[in-house]
Amino acid sequence: DCQSASEIVIFGAMGDLSCRKLLPALYQLEVCGLINKDSRIVGAARQDHTLEEFRNVVVDSLNKYVKETIDETVLTRFTNRLVYQSLEFKDSSSFSKLSDAIAGGNETRVYYFSTPPAIYGDICKGLHHASLITDVDRVVMEKPIGHSLESSIAINNQVSEYFNENQTYRIDHYLGKETVLNLLVLRFANSLFTNNWDRNSIDHVQITVAESVGIEGRWGFYDEAGQLRDMVQNHLLQILSLLAMEPPADLSADSVRAEKLKVVKALKAINRENIKDKVVRGQYGDGFLNGISVPGYLNEEGANANSNTETFVAIKAEIDNWRWKGVPFYLRTGKRMPKKHSEIVVHFKQQPHNIFKDSYSDLPANKLTIRLQPDEGVELQMMNKIPGIASQMRIQENKLDLSFSDTYHDERVVDAYERLMLEVLNGNQSLFVSRDEVEAAWVWADSIIEAWNTTNEVPKPYAAGSWGPVSSISLIARDDRQWVE
Ligand code: BG6
Repeated sequence: DCQSASEIVIFGAMGDLSCRKLLPALYQLEVCGLINKDSRIVGAARQDHTLEEFRNVVVDSLNKYVKETIDETVLTRFTNRLVYQSLEFKDSSSFSKLSDAIAGGNETRVYYFSTPPAIYGDICKGLHHASLITDVDRVVMEKPIGHSLESSIAINNQVSEYFNENQTYRIDHYLGKETVLNLLVLRFANSLFTNNWDRNSIDHVQITVAESVGIEGRWGFYDEAGQLRDMVQNHLLQILSLLAMEPPADLSADSVRAEKLKVVKALKAINRENIKDKVVRGQYGDGFLNGISVPGYLNEEGANANSNTETFVAIKAEIDNWRWKGVPFYLRTGKRMPKKHSEIVVHFKQQPHNIFKDSYSDLPANKLTIRLQPDEGVELQMMNKIPGIASQMRIQENKLDLSFSDTYHDERVVDAYERLMLEVLNGNQSLFVSRDEVEAAWVWADSIIEAWNTTNEVPKPYAAGSWGPVSSISLIARDDRQWVE
């Protein structure tokens, strides 16, 4: 059944994220009958537009970004919900127009902030000024929530003056991905993994989030952030937390978020003393992708030729607790890598004794590969006997492979935003990041950035279309290990 009626107000409704992700996600929920019949979708943005113009933008976005054929009946139902209101975000008095636009509607409101975070505080003030905030309303915040601990505290403080933590939904869209959610199932619905998930069984873990895209016309924004702030502080740490956390008592927001927080807090600090051994910072130069020549970061449109912003990071992360002592988590993520490819590889320990020396002098260890995207799936590398009469046993490394597209070919692939939007409407915070988590993640990331600054660390070059700087290979090779290709 669909949740109770609420007004869904999107600030920055004409922006890229809204058109690409939020509106298509809401449309898909409409298709599934998961939006209450009385809910309205209110677009709020700076520009003056008629409702008709807003509708056209919405329909164009759906045609462009929804993969399935648009159902005309559903589309009519969806567009009938639309309301548009132009607002001067910095002028609180203009919010009375919003109040008029949604007067007489539902009592619960979901406010989705899809604007630059610098104006989150202004929007809150405006909503308050127009008496549009009650205890049952919800606020959804997009990243980046700050670019450091200090700035994230400032943003969270501005919003928390008006909304309680239990009304605040901080998005990390990786938490809405099917394969990331499946980590919970894999770890806690399978005793095989639940019982072999620690320093006694696992040698190390690799997490790769590679993207083939470059900066895609947002050089100015990206250059202020860099890959550590843009991807590691949030997405990679969330994956790491789900992988490494203690079993939560249940799936409630309180239980899951408390366990994830403990992982981030237990991360060993990386600072100027140890940064050279733990982190590789890279920046792509000119190169080739799929045979096509692509410009380096400093030659992208709008680039400042002197930038030292990183587009790649590899990190040896260590979790200082009972479960993970001595088990490194190698993380790497970058732009302009050979392909879009994200996966987790859990390397189990080698057998202590080998009775198959005649066939294999060095028995390979089991590996569990969780393919996050694309080609989602789970794969277990294991040893198997090659059938045959030969008296000497011949064995071989092979795999059990659960491909999601083959196994669940009748199921539609749900986009992360669809899942997250539904959770907001249902009032479930489990898949959203708590303030404590955001802040703990900044403490760890800030220390790396400070170490880069104090040691004048300049990013190492790598060719666009490669797997990163050579030193990222040495980072793991120093420990007698290697990245899985
Ligand atoms: C965003 C980052 O949060 O995630 C982008 O700002 C990045 O730089 C994107 O490209 C990656 O998301 P996905 O879902 O394509 O892996």
